[in-house]
Amino acid sequence: MPTQPLSFRTQGVKLSSIRQVAAKMQSAAEQGIKITNFAAGRLDLDSPSRAKKATQKAMEQGWVHYASTMGRSDLRLTLARRLGKDFRLNVDPEQIIITLGATEAMYVALQSLLNPGDEVLVPQPMYVYYEGWAALGGAKTVPVPLDPMDDFLLRAGQVRSRLSSRTKALIINSPHNPTGQVFNEQDLSEIAQMAQEEDFYLICDDVYSYLLYDGVRHFPIATIPGLESRTIMVGSLSKTYAMDGWRVGYLAGPPDFMEHAVKIHQYAVGSANTFVQFGAREVLEDPQDFVQDLQSRLARRRELMLSGLDQMGLPYVRPRGGFYVFPAISRFGYGSERFSEFLFAKAQVAVVPGIAFGPGGEGHVRMAYCTSRPEIEQGLERIAKALSLL
Ligand SMILES: Cc1ncc(COP(=O)(O)O)c(C=O)c1O
Repeated sequence: MPTQPLSFRTQGVKLSSIRQVAAKMQSAAEQGIKITNFAAGRLDLDSPSRAKKATQKAMEQGWVHYASTMGRSDLRLTLARRLGKDFRLNVDPEQIIITLGATEAMYVALQSLLNPGDEVLVPQPMYVYYEGWAALGGAKTVPVPLDPMDDFLLRAGQVRSRLSSRTKALIINSPHNPTGQVFNEQDLSEIAQMAQEEDFYLICDDVYSYLLYDGVRHFPIATIPGLESRTIMVGSLSKTYAMDGWRVGYLAGPPDFMEHAVKIHQYAVGSANTFVQFGAREVLEDPQDFVQDLQSRLARRRELMLSGLDQMGLPYVRPRGGFYVFPAISRFGYGSERFSEFLFAKAQVAVVPGIAFGPGGEGHVRMAYCTSRPEIEQGLERIAKALSLL
């Protein structure tokens, strides 16, 4: 047995408990128990056929070797055009790296920015990985609370009161996982001004930026004059095009930051997969009918989910984007973990306990409505029945 200690880097890095729910579902399935899945944050739809065709063709044509480190230039150009058209963003394709999903993009972003002792502000409840990515960069996560009584909105005042001389960056994820909230333009503009005055970076995790309801619009911070030099953008095809297994995302930012980022990306993965970049480019071209159809489909699923919660009297803040709702469950007298276990055992429904998103998520559970309407109906019925026993 080796006696050498293993790396200290994984200290403070937890495995995601969302994956633990997936493991529980797997073992239930092996025992023949059908669990309704409100836990997984992935669409039940197939990826667009045009993406598959373009990828198959690329493979047949022999595009099976390494791609360039930053990704294919035609894909980067198409992506820059897409961001320009949809969000008025002016991104130079030379400042984009194609990554293995937003996951790699966030990892690269934080590795490129952080030094030991730095602090990263993260609105909480939060997507669990943020804490681990910050820890892998030697930095500490400073939670900025999102208050359910204030619709889980990110407030400039809350950010200001957590600034310190060590603040390096703030992560903004809007639409927000797990609450489904979209932060408002007024607060984001104030935060942007604060970033300039107090000198910190903004990292925008925009993976849900195409999934919006109630006429709400995505506010791209990098369009504010002066902000392009301190805004780092992370995006992905996973949620917008049901392409999560393809592992295609991107990282875009100012030139000095990108010089660092390209090194981390090269050392971590070399380059993104070559042939999937053909499919990725294909779906980013017009027409965007897949996305339009997805938006209206998810809007209808959201209505179904919310009306079920209304009927059960489960309170929630109305989600405006993404595909999650984060109802409050504390009145049942259980913590979120026990409540989730209860639903799993008695209703055969999997949800994610709010505590998985940090202490700020306690008292809630995350329910995803990216699954089919019959599945949503079945899950709601099962939950209503189980809750009537309490
Ligand atoms: C907020 C957020 N960021 C990043 C990701 C990772 O996305 P990708 O599949 O592009 O790696 C997810 C996936 O659930 C997410 O919810």
